[in-house]
Amino acid sequence: MKKIFFSLLLGFSLVQGAALAQGDAAAGKDKSMLCAGCHGATGKNPSPIYPDLAGQHAQYIVKQLKAFKSGDRTDPVMAPMAANLSEQDMADLAAYFSSQSRTGDQDKAVVTTTAPATATATKPTFVADPASGKTLYENGDQARELAACIGCHGKEGHSKVLIYPNLFKQHPEYIEKQLHAFKDGSRVDVVMNKFASVLTEEEIKNIGAYFADPQAMASIKAKHIVQASVSSEAVTAGKAKAAVCASCHGVDGNSMVAIYPKLAGQSSEYLVKQLTEFKNGTRKDPVMAGMAAALSTQDIQDLASYFSAQKITNGLEKSNELGKKLYLGGDKKRSITACAACHGIQGKGMAKAGFPAVANQHVDYLKGQLTKFKSSVRANDANAIMRITTQKMTEEEMQALAEYMSSL
Ligand code: HEC
Ligand code: HEC
Ligand code: HEC
Ligand code: HEC
Repeated sequence: MKKIFFSLLLGFSLVQGAALAQGDAAAGKDKSMLCAGCHGATGKNPSPIYPDLAGQHAQYIVKQLKAFKSGDRTDPVMAPMAANLSEQDMADLAAYFSSQSRTGDQDKAVVTTTAPATATATKPTFVADPASGKTLYENGDQARELAACIGCHGKEGHSKVLIYPNLFKQHPEYIEKQLHAFKDGSRVDVVMNKFASVLTEEEIKNIGAYFADPQAMASIKAKHIVQASVSSEAVTAGKAKAAVCASCHGVDGNSMVAIYPKLAGQSSEYLVKQLTEFKNGTRKDPVMAGMAAALSTQDIQDLASYFSAQKITNGLEKSNELGKKLYLGGDKKRSITACAACHGIQGKGMAKAGFPAVANQHVDYLKGQLTKFKSSVRANDANAIMRITTQKMTEEEMQALAEYMSSL
């Protein structure tokens, strides 16, 4: 956790071009008087339109305050509030609110005004179902390429990664409003815009209802889980079938040749997608097309299970500074989203969201794939995520990123 925190701080300071101000929770408490009227003295409040800030990641709070200040995130109420805050104020306020607990009672009702009616009036006939919200949150929906939210926002909305906000016990109305804003594009975030775009009105309400009290749903098993888990039978069956792959990818999925990717430890979801797409031509490669043509759906499942259960060998030893800067911070001006947002701070990817692991992979293979995405030779990335990300990247940057990923 320490390591993640540290690299993340680094990532942020790199984006800002200056070191992130060190927050002082005590100073933040004094400054928070300004915020208490709406957000509550300790960041918990009874009003459905004001988000709870208690227990939120400090990094996330700072990022949002900066976004309100710069106008990247628009809100008529928060814009003037943030306009007057210095970097130090933001850091102090974030330190204070993040140190508060979101469990327990709400702060005394400081807000006396009732919430104004939101633009999206509730259809009187629809009653939100938190259990359905939980199911969607934990499983996503493969048919619509909707990633499981839990992959980023964590179990019951306690996210482990500092750039992903905690959703635990957030006001349903606020969650719904944000999902609508991501859906109609008025709040911009590459990841969330994509996911929210496919959510239906009912699903948005169900998810909101779930977060009102995730613990109340703890005993309810998420229904119809789509993900086929990796069984030991499949791993054994896959091992036998993997003999034909060994010449290029290595017996245990650790290829010795830099242009052949290592498959060891890659998520089975991602491997199944790639093999299926080599087979149907969505991902084009003359060698792999031939290999995949002969595979049945069962073979693909077994092979993916086998390789995902292997351990990847170490990649490059030496890190790369330029690569690190881009990987953790991206470059907003050129639509290069921080790679860490999807591939993870440590390059482990996010199986449930379909984001492949990139850590310890061969440099040549990684650079090759970035080049192929840039020229659209590889075009099997949903919503052209990787094609957009690589569009304005230089060759030097691709090399740097490949080296950094391999060293993770
Ligand atoms: C007059 C009421 C009001 C005051 C005072 C106020 N806020 Fe807000 N704040 C809001 C509203 C409304 C939103 C939700 C905006 C939206 O819907 O996008 C918000 C959102 C936020 C968010 C984003 C939360 C998230 O989960 O994304 C942060 C962070 C925040 N406020 C911090 C502060 C801080 C710090 C102060 C004090 C300096 C403050 N606010 C003062 C009304 C207020
Ligand atoms: C790949 C990671 C990822 C996945 C998967 C994901 N999110 Fe997010 N989510 C984010 C990030 C990053 C943000 C913060 C965006 C920003 O900085 O403004 C966010 C923000 C949010 C917010 C706003 C929180 C606030 O305090 O303002 C909500 C609500 C949300 N996500 C719900 C969902 C739901 C529901 C799903 C599943 C359908 C989902 N997310 C899937 C990464 C993810
Ligand atoms: C003759 C060499 C060769 C053989 C044999 C071979 N592959 Fe490949 N494989 C490749 C090459 C080259 C690529 C990279 C293609 C590209 O650049 O897009 C690849 C890519 C892949 C990928 C995509 C990995 C990623 O990270 O996206 C998977 C999955 C894969 N192979 C699985 C298999 C399986 C399973 C077998 C055996 C049934 C197999 N391969 C046999 C050469 C081979
Ligand atoms: C919004 C999410 C997202 C972001 C941001 C993102 N990626 Fe990806 N990346 C993906 C997805 C999804 C795939 C897999 C596409 C597919 O299904 O074939 C992928 C695939 C890749 C691959 C191919 C892996 C393999 O084994 O073949 C590489 C390399 C890669 N990304 C590097 C990067 C780098 C470097 C960055 C930052 C500059 C980045 N990605 C940013 C989502 C993302």
